[in-house]
Amino acid sequence: MKNIITHEGRVVLVTGAAQGIGQAIALALAQRGASVIATDLHMPHETIEKIGSNAVGFELDVTQEENWQAVLRQSKAVGEVDIVVNNAGYFPNRPIDELDLPTWRRTMATNLDAHFLSAKYFLPSMRKKKWGRFIGISSNMVGLSIPGMSHYIASKMGIIGFMRGLANDVANDGITANAILPGLTNTLATAVQSDEQKRATWEQQAIKRLGDPEDITGTVLFLTSDDASFITGQAIVVDGGQYRVG
Ligand SMILES: NC(=O)c1ccc[n+]([C@@H]2O[C@H](COP(=O)([O-])OP(=O)(O)OC[C@H]3O[C@@H](n4cnc5c(N)ncnc54)[C@H](O)[C@@H]3O)[C@@H](O)[C@H]2O)c1
Repeated sequence: MKNIITHEGRVVLVTGAAQGIGQAIALALAQRGASVIATDLHMPHETIEKIGSNAVGFELDVTQEENWQAVLRQSKAVGEVDIVVNNAGYFPNRPIDELDLPTWRRTMATNLDAHFLSAKYFLPSMRKKKWGRFIGISSNMVGLSIPGMSHYIASKMGIIGFMRGLANDVANDGITANAILPGLTNTLATAVQSDEQKRATWEQQAIKRLGDPEDITGTVLFLTSDDASFITGQAIVVDGGQYRVG
């Protein structure tokens, strides 16, 4: 089958790309012709090897501003970044009576500060090119009644709010900003859940199966393509029809 090359010439940076949803996103964008900068807390060797010559890897702790500055410098060797996918996430379960300030702050730093920092450092080159895409990986949990996740839900609602606001500030330069809300997805992060727990979630979906990382990538490909140039400030739910909005 012929490859559909929707992202040829684009340079994309993906955070949390060593495994799970982030790795699937990096692979999918590479398949569509993008040059991929795969980043994670540790060098995402597996992702880079799977992609081959079209990928480079950098260590990027998304909570650390100096790390963003370093990756901005290092990324110039690949080219100016056109697309940023903020996927790295932190999601410990802590009922409100057990939630402490360090956990709250780490959740906000990982899930929310990162989006602001990526805009601060990668927006200028997008503005020059009059083209850019920001994708924030939020979660459908913002609409579910799952206990112990108040900090996480607050941060994931924050992503939706930031994308709405960012969309307004960058619209005149051909740049869009959108959030994607995956449902329960089969990754190492959710491997701790029993099959019964997972089934209890996916049975609430219209499409009755557990989501795979590859179920999330199509929406990323679309929103980061030219086809989606008139879509911005949106929150798109990708969960097999569990959470219905509107
Ligand atoms: N798996 C799900 O069911 C699900 C559902 C909805 C939303 N999400 C969101 O999707 C994203 C990816 O989830 P996943 O299931 O693939 O998780 P995962 O734990 O498998 O992968 C997350 C990656 O992020 C990296 N990471 C964590 N903290 C980081 C930091 N400070 N800096 C850089 N990288 C960091 C980890 O090293 C890891 O490689 C997260 O934002 C998560 O909230 C996941």
